[in-house]
Parts: sequence; C-alpha cells; structure tokens
Amino acid sequence: MPAPPLVVIADPVDPGALQVLAKGPCRVVDASGDPATLPTLMETAWGLVVRSRTKVTETLLSHAPQLRVVARAGVGVDNVDLKAATARKVLVVNAPTAATTSVAELTVTFALLLVRDLYGAIQATKGGAWKRGLHGTELAGKTVGLVGYGRIGREVARRLRPFGASIVAFDPLLPRSPDETPLVPLDELLARSDIVSLHAALTPENHHLLNAERLARLRRGAYIINVARGALIDEEALLAALTSGQVAGAALDVFEPEPPTRTALLTHPKVVATPHLGASTPEAQNRAGVQVAEELLRLLRGEEPLYLVNTEVRAPP
Ligand code: MLT
Repeated sequence: MPAPPLVVIADPVDPGALQVLAKGPCRVVDASGDPATLPTLMETAWGLVVRSRTKVTETLLSHAPQLRVVARAGVGVDNVDLKAATARKVLVVNAPTAATTSVAELTVTFALLLVRDLYGAIQATKGGAWKRGLHGTELAGKTVGLVGYGRIGREVARRLRPFGASIVAFDPLLPRSPDETPLVPLDELLARSDIVSLHAALTPENHHLLNAERLARLRRGAYIINVARGALIDEEALLAALTSGQVAGAALDVFEPEPPTRTALLTHPKVVATPHLGASTPEAQNRAGVQVAEELLRLLRGEEPLYLVNTEVRAPP
C-alpha cells in the first residue's frame, strides 16, 4: 500500500492547522523548528505549508518532484515563486481572509497615533517629561487615501468612516467601487489625502510605488501608513521626504528588507515602527492555519480549492 501523502510544515503555524491535518489522509512532518531538514523532506513532499520565513524558490521546488501544493498560511504570496510553481503545475493556495480584521485594526491604530502625534508624546512622558499644550489634530475631517481596495482596504474604510474621515481609494484591479468609497487615480489620491495607507499586494509592477516623484505629489505634511509590504515604498525617498517635512510622519509595519537595515529611517523621530506584526494575533494566525489546512484536506479529497492563487494550474493533484 502506498504511503499517505506527506505534508511538510516549513514555518511555525497555529496548532489549529495540525489539528485539522490530523483528520486527513496524510502524514505531517513539522520541520518548522529545523529548517535545515527541508530540502531532504521536499524530495517526497506532496504538500508544503509556509508562512513568510520560507522562500519558495525555483531551487526549493526543484527538490520536490512530488509536490502538488504550496499552502501559504497568510495573505501575501510574494515569498513564493509563482511562475516556477505554475510551470511545475504546483498549486499555490493562501488564506486571504485570515488577517483582514487584525491588519485593519492595526491601520486604524496607526492613523490615530500619527494624527495625534502620540508616539513622541508617549516616549517623552515615559522619559520623565511633562509637555502639555496643543498636540496633533483630530482624525475627523481628514481624508484617508487607501492604495489597494481589496478586503483589507475596505475594512479599513468601514472602520474609519465612523471617525468622520473621508475615504478615497486607488485600485487598478477594480472596474468600479464596491461601496461608497470613490475610486480615484493615484495622483489624485496623493494630492487629496492627509493620510495615505498602503493595502496592495507586492507585484513587480508596484515595486517602489511610492517613490520620490510620487511622494512629491503628496499634500505637504501628509502621513504614510504601510502595513502591506516594505518594497511598495522607496525607503530612501521616504526618509528624504520625512527630513524635508514633505511627509509629517510614517507608521511602518513592513520594511525592505526584513529585518530592516535602514537605521536612519527606523530611528527617525517621526517614524512609528513595528516588526511586521499586522497578522500576528492569535485570531488571525488560527484562521490562517485552519484555512490552509482545510484547503489541503479539500485537495486530498479531490475537491476544488477555495483560495487558489495560480488559477492557471487547474488539474486536481
Ligand atoms: C500576510 O501576508 O499574511 C501577512 O503579511 C503576515 C505574514 O507575512 O505572515
């Protein structure tokens, strides 16, 4: 009798994923604590579960002749070589809805932190200072420009409207707005927004989308939020814009590269920096793990996946 298909867990995932996989006709090896074993395990793997640590490269895929599916326990698939996977007819699935609430909540937190200029005030007060006086502004009445109006962008908009903020969005993938948020060209969004918040997947086309030229089109004194991917922003250009006052402050959860290396940006007094933790809540991680594990079981039963990223690969595994 042939051995059941092998699912290799390459990165730490929520225990809920292992509980779901335990119900399936598969063997599971958790290699997350010992990444050096990955190339050997890939020789017989049917499925591979990753978060963002493991880079699913052409080389890794070339070690995996039996691989049928890469399951990304998260949203962004920029750590997976989609072209190489597709060429090998390896399905790539993800958990696109898992982190929506967590990332949207972090975005709102950042928006409030930035406009009230709270980060510096918190640091100064904890350092023993007691500086009262006018500080920051209200979020009410401000315009927030959302670059990318998918699941997360829409949830950010839904949460910001009750604060009295006006929302505009740019999304070249949408023919029309799915709700009351007006879709506008990127240049118009940059010119109108008090806060620009990024919610797009990283693709070769939008690498350094916010470059020096686009940052110059912002309203002077606008704020930037990035909870999507670091490489959407040219960090050198952002640093220059912060230094000149063109950008009044930035809240960055993601960097290029990670961990970040530009200390001048990290330590800039107007930069709030966090270590890519938008999806790092127990709720989001549980959903991500369970969703991709259920996707694997669906494939093992010969059913169609719900969240296939490379839709060109249609043949059931
Ligand atoms: C995601 O794409 O799901 C988030 O950025 C978090 C992660 O990389 O795991």
